[in-house]
Amino acid sequence: MHFELSEEHLMIKKAARDFAQNECLPGVIERDEKMIFPREQVMKLAELGFMGMMVSPEYGGAGMDTISYVLAMEEISKIDASASVCMSVNNSLVAWGLDKFGSEEQKQKYLTPVARGIKDGELYIGAFLLSEPEAGSDATSQRTTAEDMGDHYLLNGTKNWITNGGTASVYLVMAQTDAAKGSHGINTFIVEKKWPGVTVAAKENKLGIRASDTHTILFNDVKVPKENRIGEDGFGFKFAMRTLAGGRIGIASQALGIASGAYELALKYSKQRKAFGKEIMHHQAIQFKLADMATRIEAARLLCLKAAYEKDQGLDYTVSSSMAKVFASETAMWTTVEAVQVHGGYGYVKEYHVERLMRDAKITQLYEGTSEVQRIVISRSILK
Ligand code: CAA
Repeated sequence: MHFELSEEHLMIKKAARDFAQNECLPGVIERDEKMIFPREQVMKLAELGFMGMMVSPEYGGAGMDTISYVLAMEEISKIDASASVCMSVNNSLVAWGLDKFGSEEQKQKYLTPVARGIKDGELYIGAFLLSEPEAGSDATSQRTTAEDMGDHYLLNGTKNWITNGGTASVYLVMAQTDAAKGSHGINTFIVEKKWPGVTVAAKENKLGIRASDTHTILFNDVKVPKENRIGEDGFGFKFAMRTLAGGRIGIASQALGIASGAYELALKYSKQRKAFGKEIMHHQAIQFKLADMATRIEAARLLCLKAAYEKDQGLDYTVSSSMAKVFASETAMWTTVEAVQVHGGYGYVKEYHVERLMRDAKITQLYEGTSEVQRIVISRSILK
């Protein structure tokens, strides 16, 4: 067992860190405030190969491993969690799902542009449509239906809180095809946003990750070709669960980045700010906060890397990804609150970035499975 990163991993980490500093930091406060999607930044992430990191070059990807993905996600998320959630959803929920379970035709037609993140010079990304108004944590209660019409399916329903909802060109949509079969009657379909009957509805005005593009999506008698169903009939819920297990590594890494970004800012500030005649880093009250932040962040990082390692080795990573997500997201929430505290009144204003990171941290405890859902996954495995 060794804990050192390879030369290649260190290069990827540095490339992501430089990118975040040079491309994401400028304008990040304004994009957050005005809810402006970081289109330019995401285009450049695509050019770097960061939108299809784990897909082979044969299908437009960068052919990197999951460890590289964790490292890049951490660095981008330190600065811009709105850009990084777009990257995470495209990489692990859309590209990975298509790569692992898609047919050859689906890979040629959809995976290749999604993994590149660009088609015909325009942004081309995906979204993952599982959540509904009445099916969040209880994901098997799908109300969206896809009726088998012989040569196509007819899709009807409403999906909520869809990351990349307005920007994505392609949606992976979970829908009930046979209610009597419960979770075995769910299928996943590849749906193009431009098809008749697809409506991008309300954009959410959110607490955090405000520059990310979150919408309700409506389907009204959308004709979906048979060949756009992913996998065997009834595979849709398992597809969602398998894909989300990898997605949770991405969100855990995002949470890790939010936490470490806040920690780096708190550390820097504690060396500059003076109180009671000395820099505040010389006060034990601050030292203990920094020590606890560093310790929790290191633990979160190790959990993320372990889950990524297991995925790269072909092992079962369902539980380790849930452990990484629940721990990293709680670390992000705790660390960002403490980072605001270290900054005092300055922490409460926008220019110092930590209040944004605190708002951004909260979503990591909610999406891709709440902390409670992660604990269900972990405890079921322990008790099995
Ligand atoms: N891999 C493969 N199969 C799995 C699985 C996994 N990880 N987890 C469950 N399954 C299978 C089960 O084995 C079962 O199949 P069988 O009947 O053949 O045994 C079937 O799926 C149903 O599973 P459960 O009985 O465990 O289902 P449940 O109703 O108890 O729910 C749950 C389990 C873990 C709570 C699940 O519903 C869940 O993960 N909920 C959260 C959903 C979620 O994460 N939503 C996030 C939305 S996406 C998002 O946020 C993206 C974004 O835009 C950022």
